[in-house]
Amino acid sequence: MRLKDRVALITGGGSGIGRATALLFAREGAKVVVADLAAKNAKAVAKEVRAAGGAATPVAGDVTSPKDAEAMVKAAVSAYGRLQVLVNSAGISARQAPPGAPHEVVWDKVIGVNLKGTYLVSWYAVTEIAKAGGGAIVNLGSIMSLVAYPLGVQVWGGAMTGFNPYNPSKGAVLQLTRNMAVHFAKQNIRVNCICPGFVVSPLTEKLLNDPEANKALTEKHPIGRLGTPEDIANAALFLASDESAFMTGAPLIVDGGYTAV
Ligand SMILES: NC(=O)c1ccc[n+]([C@@H]2O[C@H](COP(=O)([O-])OP(=O)(O)OC[C@H]3O[C@@H](n4cnc5c(N)ncnc54)[C@H](O)[C@@H]3O)[C@@H](O)[C@H]2O)c1
Repeated sequence: MRLKDRVALITGGGSGIGRATALLFAREGAKVVVADLAAKNAKAVAKEVRAAGGAATPVAGDVTSPKDAEAMVKAAVSAYGRLQVLVNSAGISARQAPPGAPHEVVWDKVIGVNLKGTYLVSWYAVTEIAKAGGGAIVNLGSIMSLVAYPLGVQVWGGAMTGFNPYNPSKGAVLQLTRNMAVHFAKQNIRVNCICPGFVVSPLTEKLLNDPEANKALTEKHPIGRLGTPEDIANAALFLASDESAFMTGAPLIVDGGYTAV
């Protein structure tokens, strides 16, 4: 077991990549805290983990609220006595913004969840991870941390093209990763950033339900398929475990070759 008896907090754990990560980490021996804005989904995933014989605690909260971010970290400590791993998977794209919202509102919302949310939960988590003797933080960046949105892909119901806040939010998550890695290395906290290609999940559902967009985006991945949440959970497991002991401040690109072209 690669995470035996480690305590892991997974934000956005109620769906997609976060859910797959919670299930995998628990199978690898971790006690998981499943945090999500959608209380029902956090509970359902925790139940799934327990049904498979693992240990899990759900917590409802909004990563953009300092109070909720702190409560997520406290939930781990009160349930399991410590925190050693944080996976910042809570995130949204411009497509999740309220339909018809003004562009500057969409901007604040996406930057708020993806960047401020990652920062806030990490802010409270580092103290506890340091107290536990160290550990790992895994941030969810994107290939959009590294490259621009592809031409011709309509996002946010077609009202906005690639000129949107998702890439800047994910680019900044990678820079935050580097800063945190350098800052917390002496406290034995490693911080890395996964940069996934397009993954089939509720986040991309609206976009990928359009057969034309689906085909065009699939073709952009030389491996010939889109990613699965499990593809990314496997990378998160590597970064959370001691197998990546000499990695910190690094992007881990898991994109079926998207950015190699
Ligand atoms: N799906 C992809 O193609 C893809 C690609 C690259 C990166 N990512 C990143 O991976 C992460 C997970 O994406 P996913 O595909 O699993 O998406 P998802 O929509 O399936 O899951 C995201 C979860 O985050 C939760 N969430 C949203 N706002 C929140 C908030 N304010 N506070 C707490 N929880 C909140 C949602 O309720 C949801 O359960 C995101 O950061 C996303 O940007 C996804």
